[in-house]
Parts: sequence; C-alpha cells; structure tokens
Amino acid sequence: MKKLIFGAALAALSAVAAAQGQVNIICSVQAEWCNMISTVYARTTGVKVNMSLKGSGEALAQLIAEKENPKTDIWFGGTGDPHLQAAEQGLSAEYKSPSLAQLHPWAQQQAQQSGYKTVGIYSGPLGFGYNTELLAKKKLAVPKVWADLLKPEYKGDVQVANPASSGTAYTMIATLVQLMGEDKAFDYLKSLHKNVSQYTRSGTGPIKAVARGETAVSISFVHDGPGEKMQGFPVETVTPADGTGAEIGSMSLIKGARNLEAAKKFYEWALTPAAQEMGAAAKQFQLPSNKAAKLDPRIPDFRKIKFINYDYAKYGASAERRRLIARWEKDVNSLPK
Ligand code: G6P
Repeated sequence: MKKLIFGAALAALSAVAAAQGQVNIICSVQAEWCNMISTVYARTTGVKVNMSLKGSGEALAQLIAEKENPKTDIWFGGTGDPHLQAAEQGLSAEYKSPSLAQLHPWAQQQAQQSGYKTVGIYSGPLGFGYNTELLAKKKLAVPKVWADLLKPEYKGDVQVANPASSGTAYTMIATLVQLMGEDKAFDYLKSLHKNVSQYTRSGTGPIKAVARGETAVSISFVHDGPGEKMQGFPVETVTPADGTGAEIGSMSLIKGARNLEAAKKFYEWALTPAAQEMGAAAKQFQLPSNKAAKLDPRIPDFRKIKFINYDYAKYGASAERRRLIARWEKDVNSLPK
C-alpha cells in the first residue's frame, strides 16, 4: 500500500516536472556560477535543467556540429565574440527581450549588432593575474604594460589559454591587434610564446595556475582574481597601463531549439537583477548588464582602466575570428619554445 502511494506521489511529481518542461543549457562561465543558476532555477520553477559546461570556443564548435539537429536550447555566458559568430552563422534565434531597456548600453549594442540574436549579460576587462609570493621569491616585478611580459626573466612563468578553445585568449589576440596593428601584435605573440609555459584549454586555467603557485603570471580576465583570493591564494590582478580590451559576456537562444518557450523564460530570468547578482554570490565578479543589479565592491572599477575602443562587430565576425586563430596556430603555436 505504502509503495503504491509513494509510486503515485512520484508519478504526480514527475508529471509536474514534465508540465514545467526542461531546458538544455550550455554554460560558459565557471562551474560554481553554472551550478548555482541551474539549481536555483530548477528549484524555483520546477523546470528540469540539463546543463553542460564548455569554454566559449568549444561551445561554438558544438553548436556548429549540432546545427542540423540542435540539442541545446540556450547558451549562457562566455565571451561575446563567438556569440556574434554564432549569430552570423545562423545558429542562434532572433529574440527581442522586453527587458532590453533595463540593460547597460554595451549589452544592448551587443543585441543590436547581432540582429537581436544575442545579448550582453556581463562585462569584464582583460589583464594580468600574478602570484605575489612567487614574484617576491623570484624577485620579479609586477608587470605593468604588455611589453613587460616579454622580459626574459618571465621565461616559463607566463600562462595564457589557447584561443581555439578559449574566448579569453581570443579576446587577448583581438585586443593586441587593435592596440598594436596586426603584424606587430603577431610579433608580440611570437616573443610571448618563448615565455609561455603552457596554453591551457580554458580561459580560467592560467589564473588558477597562478593561484596554486604553478606559474607567476597569467593573462586573464581580472574579475577572475578575487574568487581565487577569497580561497586564500596570494593572487592580485592588474590591467595594462597601455590599454586593454573587455569582453561582453553574452547569452543566445539556439535556432531550432526543442524547448524554445522554456528557454525564453530562462533567458528572461537570467536578465533580472536577482539572477545576475548570483555571479558575485558564486565568487565571479563581472559587471552585470542589468543596470539595477547590486554591485559587489570586488567588481573591477571600469573608470580606473584604460580601454581600447574594442570593435566587437569586426572581431566577432566569423571570417575574422577564424583567420586570426588560424594565423596564431600557424605563426605562433607551431614555433618551438
Ligand atoms: C571565465 C570568465 C568569464 C568568461 C569565460 C570565458 O569564466 O569568468 O567572464 O566569459 O571565462 O571562458 P573561456 O574558457 O572561453 O575563455
């Protein structure tokens, strides 16, 4: 009898879950934030959330691979350039959110530029992470400008991600090209190659290596520093005084999504101040795109940073992104150390 009642209750529960539907998400921010939004959203709405974690470049590769038969409904987070490329390649669905007016102009511009096929959900500056104890021990100075990373004393002590898999690393290439001109930027990357110990798959790999004392310096988004510091690691960050770029972390609905209505509801929820404040709650300190979201004091102060005028449309275009990554593979990654 008990078993029967339990069985009936379970059936009723799963019927509720089925009625609320499900949503399949690729999440390109760090695991703690992905897990938090997935748990909170599922608990508060009854919607089943299937989430897979992938770096920005890898997420784009998956969406290209499943274009004819999409298994993903929504792509949350990751740098904006590959989201723009997805829009251009017809992988994402057009959707004009009623919440757009609540967002910062840079987030709205990301939507306009893509024909409303993506939207900005956060922003963050590119810079350097460093291990204060390791720098002191090795008697190395804190890098202040891009050229500092080329100094021979940093040999084997710099880490950055691989731009094919990581949006962070692609943001670095696009930033340098805009700052120096393309040929000079590639000369820079070739010299940097001599000092790089490892190109990691994920954009956050290098700052985690800094935190654990495996490398002295990383090229990273500076909003990824405080989370490591909060865990007790001797990590600080700095933005290059000669100028840097910023990402517009984005979100896209997938064209041909099987659960489009459920995905739109998640999308709307993800644009609310409460949902956006979960970034900081999960120790990730990007600037939220909703103007009403409360700002954690650990979020970088954009007014103190020298930014280049990053051309998101140009560097998010498919041909440009593919070309620059291919040039990096050929001219830089293939070189001996
Ligand atoms: C981290 C950062 C995000 C960024 C993402 C890109 O999660 O906190 O702001 O969008 O990395 O990841 P990727 O592996 O593509 O460089």
